[in-house]
Amino acid sequence: MTMEASAVGVRAGERFCGLQDRGDDAGELGFDFVRRRRCRAVEGAISSGETAHDLKAHGIGQRIEHAVQADNLDFRMKKGERRRRARIRSKGVELPGDFEMTSSLTGKVAVVTGASRGIGRAIAERLAADGALVAVHYGKSKAHAEDVVAGIAAKGGAAFAVGADLSAKDGVATLFAGLDRELEGRNGSNQFDILINNAAVAPFVDFANTTEEVDEIYTVNVRSVVLATKEAVKRLRDGGRVVSISSGVVRTPVPDAAAYSFLKAPIDNLTKTLAAVLGPRAITVNAVAPGVIDTDMAAALARDPVVSEGVKGKQALKRIGQPEDIADVVGFLAGPESRWVTGQVIEASGGTALTF
Ligand SMILES: NC(=O)c1ccc[n+]([C@@H]2O[C@H](COP(=O)([O-])OP(=O)(O)OC[C@H]3O[C@@H](n4cnc5c(N)ncnc54)[C@H](OP(=O)(O)O)[C@@H]3O)[C@@H](O)[C@H]2O)c1
Repeated sequence: MTMEASAVGVRAGERFCGLQDRGDDAGELGFDFVRRRRCRAVEGAISSGETAHDLKAHGIGQRIEHAVQADNLDFRMKKGERRRRARIRSKGVELPGDFEMTSSLTGKVAVVTGASRGIGRAIAERLAADGALVAVHYGKSKAHAEDVVAGIAAKGGAAFAVGADLSAKDGVATLFAGLDRELEGRNGSNQFDILINNAAVAPFVDFANTTEEVDEIYTVNVRSVVLATKEAVKRLRDGGRVVSISSGVVRTPVPDAAAYSFLKAPIDNLTKTLAAVLGPRAITVNAVAPGVIDTDMAAALARDPVVSEGVKGKQALKRIGQPEDIADVVGFLAGPESRWVTGQVIEASGGTALTF
């Protein structure tokens, strides 16, 4: 539907923020945006009197829909996204509202490694919903990363994709060359505020058969995290955040993923060490240790009907974890309310193996 925006109060050259006092439908609409702190983006998009159709092209049509449901505008959230959220909700996960945008990270820039899929994707979406400009890093899955960026833009957030294979020796250098280029182009500075070390590999190999897997796991899961954090520290603004994704396997190892299990342990110590080093700059450094989460990495545990029952049996909360369960913890650690928390590894596992 290409209804003229003016029909719902978006007049040529008029700004949503300026509509709030009018008291008519258009005013209500403007007020709605103001109340939800979405003024700025809308204001920018309609400052030259674009139509609702144009707004949709800008990727903010969905937010218009939210504000003007009564006007029955035909801006629909992508069906796939609706289905995905419905599927997660059917598992008992309380997701925040589809259109919940906050401003806790407005003006901040976040870098999320391995954000093309799984937990990283959910983290990127969460930080963007909180108002950050998000660098969506990917290794092989460029199309997925672009999809994440488009999804964020469709909800009124801001993101860009940056590729780098972190199993390559120069992977971190490639990542930061791409980040510097993009951030300097956008902001005139390569500084940022939040680093999320999320990318990792987890081949299922038991100890007896573990050989060259050690090299790949070490390079991606440990070496790249150390070197990426080192590069990030040069660019992070004071008061910034580093959050790394550890794993519950540090406390309760998975013998069938032996090297993955013992090579997650360094993340926990790096977190404490760096928290001490970066404390004087008010940069907090924390880690989140997920239990089994329904992603490609843990498909063998989370998606097999028999194995997943065993997983649930070990947990206090009897369901399989979802990427959003982790993203919400990261959202807290990346945000202003975690200012007094540093050097911590927070397990988010639905209460895995609490008792003997
Ligand atoms: N899922 C779980 O049950 C679970 C439990 C505990 C901890 N974790 C941790 O959570 C984090 C995310 O895991 P996940 O389950 O979301 O995994 P996933 O679905 O397999 O996604 C892994 C992400 O890492 C990226 N990546 C992998 N190898 C890379 C490389 N060589 N270079 C660049 N990027 C690379 C992938 O990017 P491309 O696809 O673009 O290459 C992808 O975006 C990891 O640190 C993992 O150890 C997961």
